[in-house]
Amino acid sequence: MGNSAKSISLMILVMVSIFFMGDYHLHGVKAEITCGEVTYWLFPCISYGVFGGTVDPACCTGVKTALAAAKTAEDIRKKCECVKEGAALIPGLNYTRVNEIPKLCGTTSPYQVTPDVDCSK
Ligand SMILES: *[C@@H]1O[C@H](CO)[C@@H](O)[C@H](O)[C@H]1NC(C)=O
Repeated sequence: MGNSAKSISLMILVMVSIFFMGDYHLHGVKAEITCGEVTYWLFPCISYGVFGGTVDPACCTGVKTALAAAKTAEDIRKKCECVKEGAALIPGLNYTRVNEIPKLCGTTSPYQVTPDVDCSK
């Protein structure tokens, strides 16, 4: 991938993150997790999902935080939808690589991320 494609992708990532930050409650008292939080936690993973290379340790921390935060079935469903919607907005995202991340971080995810994953299950 050329440098200009890279910078366009990064620009889009920033826009996506700003979009999702909208419902990120910094001092949140809500028990349920928000898409903003999920995006914030998984943001360091995007680079690996799009460009490959090595997984950022911050990505592993984020994945584990997100897994620990999603305790109830409702949380898991919400997180799944956030990840699915967020991933769909990222051009060039390699889902094969995305699904390698939990294993590379030494953990497991309750679902696979795909463009048409059914989050209600
Ligand atoms: C996606 O990533 C996998 C694993 O790294 C790689 O084998 C595959 O070629 C990649 N696909 C694309 C379209 O880049």
